[in-house]
Amino acid sequence: MPIIYDENNKIFHLIAGNSSYIMKNFKNKYLVHLYWGKKLNHSGFSEAFMTSPFGANPDPDDKTYTFDRMLLEYPAYGNSDYRHPAYQIEQEDGSRITNLIFKDYKIYKGKPKLQGLPATYVEDENEAETLEIELIDDLINLRVILLYTAFRDYNVITRSAKFINDGDQKLKILIALSTCVDFDHCKFDLLHLWGSWARERYIERTPLMHGIKTIESSRGESSHQHNPFIALLSKDANEKHGDVYGFSLVYSGNFSANIEVDQFNTTRVTMGINPFEFTWILEKGDTFQTPEVVMVYSAEGLGEMSRTYHRLYRKRLCRGEYRDKRRPILVNTWEAVYFNINEDKLLALAQKAKELGIELFVLDDGWFGKRDDDTSSLGDWYVDRRKLPNGLDGLGKKLNEMGLKFGLWFEPEMISPNSELYKKHPDWCIQVRRRTLSQCRNQYVLDITREEVRKEILRMMKEIIRNAPIEYIKWDMNRPLTEVGSLALTPEKQKEVFHRYVLALYEMMEELTSEFPHILFEGCSGGGGRFDPGILYYMPQIWTSDNTDAIERLKIQWGTSIVYPASTMGAHVSAVPNHQVGRITPLKTRGYVAMSGVFGYEMDLTKLTKEEEEIIKDQIEFYKKIWHIVFEGDLYRLISPFQENAASWMFVTPDKKEAFVVYVNILAFPNPPFLKLKLDGLDPNKIYKIEGTDREFYGDELMNIGINIPPMKDFESFAFILRSKE
Ligand code: DGJ
Repeated sequence: MPIIYDENNKIFHLIAGNSSYIMKNFKNKYLVHLYWGKKLNHSGFSEAFMTSPFGANPDPDDKTYTFDRMLLEYPAYGNSDYRHPAYQIEQEDGSRITNLIFKDYKIYKGKPKLQGLPATYVEDENEAETLEIELIDDLINLRVILLYTAFRDYNVITRSAKFINDGDQKLKILIALSTCVDFDHCKFDLLHLWGSWARERYIERTPLMHGIKTIESSRGESSHQHNPFIALLSKDANEKHGDVYGFSLVYSGNFSANIEVDQFNTTRVTMGINPFEFTWILEKGDTFQTPEVVMVYSAEGLGEMSRTYHRLYRKRLCRGEYRDKRRPILVNTWEAVYFNINEDKLLALAQKAKELGIELFVLDDGWFGKRDDDTSSLGDWYVDRRKLPNGLDGLGKKLNEMGLKFGLWFEPEMISPNSELYKKHPDWCIQVRRRTLSQCRNQYVLDITREEVRKEILRMMKEIIRNAPIEYIKWDMNRPLTEVGSLALTPEKQKEVFHRYVLALYEMMEELTSEFPHILFEGCSGGGGRFDPGILYYMPQIWTSDNTDAIERLKIQWGTSIVYPASTMGAHVSAVPNHQVGRITPLKTRGYVAMSGVFGYEMDLTKLTKEEEEIIKDQIEFYKKIWHIVFEGDLYRLISPFQENAASWMFVTPDKKEAFVVYVNILAFPNPPFLKLKLDGLDPNKIYKIEGTDREFYGDELMNIGINIPPMKDFESFAFILRSKE
């Protein structure tokens, strides 16, 4: 049983995989945190706080405690805890004081869905148990349900909270975070993933300090700048060793993660919707559900934390027909032709793609309205017959006759000021009355919080999809939100727009993906500006970055792999000199880096030399041999491009019989020292053969002695498959 309630000691013990999470129902009133870490067999422990003679105290009958010295599960501000709170509710009289008291609990098998929000799931109710804790503030009849799910086979606890207004007054939610975890010390480093366009998810690790550190987005999307993820690492933690606590928010909009170290050296982590620019009106009878936080504990370092997220997100967050299937190897037209589209050019590219073994042809931006550059036509989702006289159906038919699948790009959330749609409906974009709207990439953001806007966009998209043989869609989003407001909402609801936008996005994605289950969807936001678990619930892959340079991708994909599995990371081989950085790298290296994600090409294939064509044919054949190791296997990060002049990683199948190893040199080092590559994750007692050679090694030799790394030139690489002999 993963969740136990010990009635005598009033202790909840959640067992998730090899981890325990323990809380106490203190005085049958307050939910106090006791422990999160390695699995414990016993849990009657009740020292829930340090006595405090001086602190403010909310209890006239017992002056021994103050909330300020306790580890709390879902704290309020204003009744003796001075750290930042998990929630805050404004009442009609202006008060923001609440006092949530334990009322009841429920433990059941399985995991419920979250209304209107993406979340991890189970396929069989025995995979997890859920605990619902009901808290009540009976002065205002506010009910809060804290939802905890413990997964049986993973060290994973998920958390969220639901607010229910059972009273007569209108409540205003000012803060509604999804989780709060208090640790009784601060001997941690904080790791998070920061970045920018074309350099997403760089790793930053810093010691915790007293005060509050916030990682957040206020851009309306999870953002290039900060991913909705943080981890606390014990000081000695590295890839293989040490305690790591991961927090990953299943949400695609403004988020905030606060890490506070207080006067007593406790560490408080809260995470959820960013309270900045947020309020939510809760009328009588209304409910508000927060998004889910997925919390992972690893006793074996960062590597094991990542593998836990990978296994869970691959199988219990991603959904749909393509969750477990090999994705077709694609060619995308963006870096091949940009906006210079015409049918002949596309068919020539497609013909070459087919000859090389490519399976899916993706027509990117530029096929609709009058879109010859990025200054027009978003919102006019009908085909541009100047470029495609036979329409999308005509093009799609020819592609299918060649034996290629057909994929298409959309940017459904946007509107160009220079578009038919904007002429008809200038009120349909996100805006604030009488203010000039900021343009970004010459476009505005549609107000999808309005039902009529969602309906019209989906109507146009569905018409296209139904009338052409489309089997793949790239859903792009190329700017953050500004001047955020909706003409359709009353003044008091204007601060709901950011969250309503995300809910509307999810509604649209749910409708489209469930109506067209055979279509493979890929998320995108100017590359990886919305690479988050929320999107992965609807779309099993996301374009990782607009930066396609293989050397730049080492850091981007390495950082992304901290949370997200390779099966979710779109990765393409592109032309040299690279369009973003001008670097010239070997085609082989570009291939190995791209096939460590969801493999494809994005270059003008009609301009290849014969030698390059042969290399690409070999790459495609090789990829078909290794994709299952990358998609189903466990990732072991070996040499970090953030620390070394090289990068190396490997994937190992769960039965440890096959592995795929990649090593990429960055800059050449003349007359190099003796270098060894030590592998990981293998069975020490199995004999492995490097495919295509007669070299054989025991797993423990490969992991402890390693193999020699030859002297290598700039950006050179090698990769190999290992197969065990039995
Ligand atoms: C940004 C995307 O990341 C690119 O791959 C491409 O689709 C462009 N948008 C098209 O405008």
